Amino acid sequence: MGFSIGSAGVRTGGPRGNLESYADKVDGKSFNLKVFKYLLVFVKPYTLRMVGAFIAMLVTTGLTLLSPFLVKVAIDGPIIEGDIEGLNEIALVMLLAFVVLYLSSMTQRYLLSWVGQKVLSDLRSKLFSHLQKLPLSYHDTHIIGVTISRVISDVGVINQLLSQGLITLIGDSILLTGIILVMLSLNAQLAVVTFAIIPVIVIATMIFAKYAKTAFRNTRAKNAHLIGDLAENLTGIRVIQAFANEGSTSERFDEVNAANRDANIEAISLSFIFLPTVEFLSMVATGIVLLFGGISVANGTISLGTVIAFLAYVNRFFLPVQELSQLYATMQTAMAGGERVINLLNTEPAVNDKPDAIDMPTITGHIKFKNVSFGYKDHVKVLHNINVDIAPGQMVALVGPTGAGKTSIANLIARFYDVTDGTVYIDDIDVRDVKQISMRQQMGLVSQDPFIFSGTIADNIRFGRPSASIDEVVRAAELANVHSFVDKLPDSYNAEILEDGANLSVGQRQLISIARAILADPRILVMDEATSSVDMVTESLIQDALKKLLANRTSIVIAHRLSTIVNADQICVVQAGKIIEQGTHTELISQRGLYHELHDRQFVELVD
Ligand code: UTP
Ligand code: MG
Repeated sequence: MGFSIGSAGVRTGGPRGNLESYADKVDGKSFNLKVFKYLLVFVKPYTLRMVGAFIAMLVTTGLTLLSPFLVKVAIDGPIIEGDIEGLNEIALVMLLAFVVLYLSSMTQRYLLSWVGQKVLSDLRSKLFSHLQKLPLSYHDTHIIGVTISRVISDVGVINQLLSQGLITLIGDSILLTGIILVMLSLNAQLAVVTFAIIPVIVIATMIFAKYAKTAFRNTRAKNAHLIGDLAENLTGIRVIQAFANEGSTSERFDEVNAANRDANIEAISLSFIFLPTVEFLSMVATGIVLLFGGISVANGTISLGTVIAFLAYVNRFFLPVQELSQLYATMQTAMAGGERVINLLNTEPAVNDKPDAIDMPTITGHIKFKNVSFGYKDHVKVLHNINVDIAPGQMVALVGPTGAGKTSIANLIARFYDVTDGTVYIDDIDVRDVKQISMRQQMGLVSQDPFIFSGTIADNIRFGRPSASIDEVVRAAELANVHSFVDKLPDSYNAEILEDGANLSVGQRQLISIARAILADPRILVMDEATSSVDMVTESLIQDALKKLLANRTSIVIAHRLSTIVNADQICVVQAGKIIEQGTHTELISQRGLYHELHDRQFVELVD
């Protein structure tokens, strides 16, 4: 075990303690005009295409209404009269109508899918860039998988509603009204008899809607839960395997999985009961038309053509009814999803640039904390009245027990969070007065757990300065003592790294993250030293690389390694959110306080 001052803290009350974020509070209205209006904004850029789709839909609907009528005209006229020429004409009109119908229906589908995919990717881009701006505190308290489910599934259903749904709703309503009107005008009496079935449809639909509302919303919640659990377990797979916890983790997953399955079965069963009901009613209606229509034809009060047209209309009548009920189910999930997505989009970044924020001038590196207090949550302070003054070019070490507040102090320098009281100054400018980007561009952070992105080694080193040439990358790698390792790889700097640097050792990851910081050449460097033990050779490579990294800039090092601390210009000992000792290594040792104690303890551990 190495020097254990302030090891990487395990956050208590972690994701599992925060399951409420699976079910963000939603209004639960089946149709929420506010949500709908908000989402419509995303369709707006494609208004022209939507209008095109709308026109195509009108044409399709019109022609769908027209064709049974043409059949009636053909039967009652030319067919009965034996007028071949007239029949030819009608057949031609019909052919023409079908060709146009074919084209309009194709256009409608094409345009809607096109707009749909655009809206989908726009919404996702917007969510992603918003997520990038959200405070770390948001990401600290929300389960990654659930956020992913917002961006992928919720956005998916919203899109279904916006693009397909909107047009389907209007188109089907027009079609239904049209069919009713045409039937009434063809023969009011037969129409009224046939429509005796409508109240039954309305009742069936209302019953369906009542159950569908909860059932379909439930599927979304369970789905988010499933994705959340999956993502968390995959992220924590090392711990799961290390603790041989596969059994109970699987059990937990099985539960979540079963709950998701049951919710879906329940929702789908509703459709499976409802849709055949509609089909059954459609057959009853057909029977009514055949019976009453047939009698009327026999009596000579209705023409044969009218009855045949009626049969066709009745047939067409039930398709939109089914479609609309499906749409209602989609709307349930989309409204809930929409509310959640809007909630997410409306979550304010906690740290905003002031409207009059200035660009940070070139930083010389003077950092000052003046009476700073801070809490992640308003009522629980984790830092109390911190005062530190760091001259340009100085190296300051923060040491102290785990959970003392070292990382929190570091977080305030780059303004990842805002102070509760007091002020953080960089070059005597309040960090709240400058644009965050202009400030962070001049700062570097090597975090406790360096993150390596998938991509090549060169890309990872270039992360802070994408424009760097390969020579500069190599030079940084040399300084970081990682060049000899990279050079031996078959693809050298173009070697692909797996996601999260899975194919690299911890030491290699640290060296690469140091090379990254060297290349970015920040004026201020914050280094949250990793605690993981590496072998002696790597350890000395890291120490050596660090020395080069820390030179010529102001640096704040959260140190776990004795050798790093000894050379610091200033050591701050942090305990319970306060700086309790401050001075150089020699001064603090002679004070015989906590630093002396921690130092002794490490010495004993080293001897062990
Ligand atoms: P720090 O994360 O600043 O502690 O948390 P530290 O000194 O760096 O600890 P090590 O050495 O890395 O382990 C300080 C306090 O702030 C709370 C923690 O619970 C701790 O008590 N905290 C931290 C939060 O409330 N929210 C956070 O997101 C992080
Ligand atoms: Mg820390």
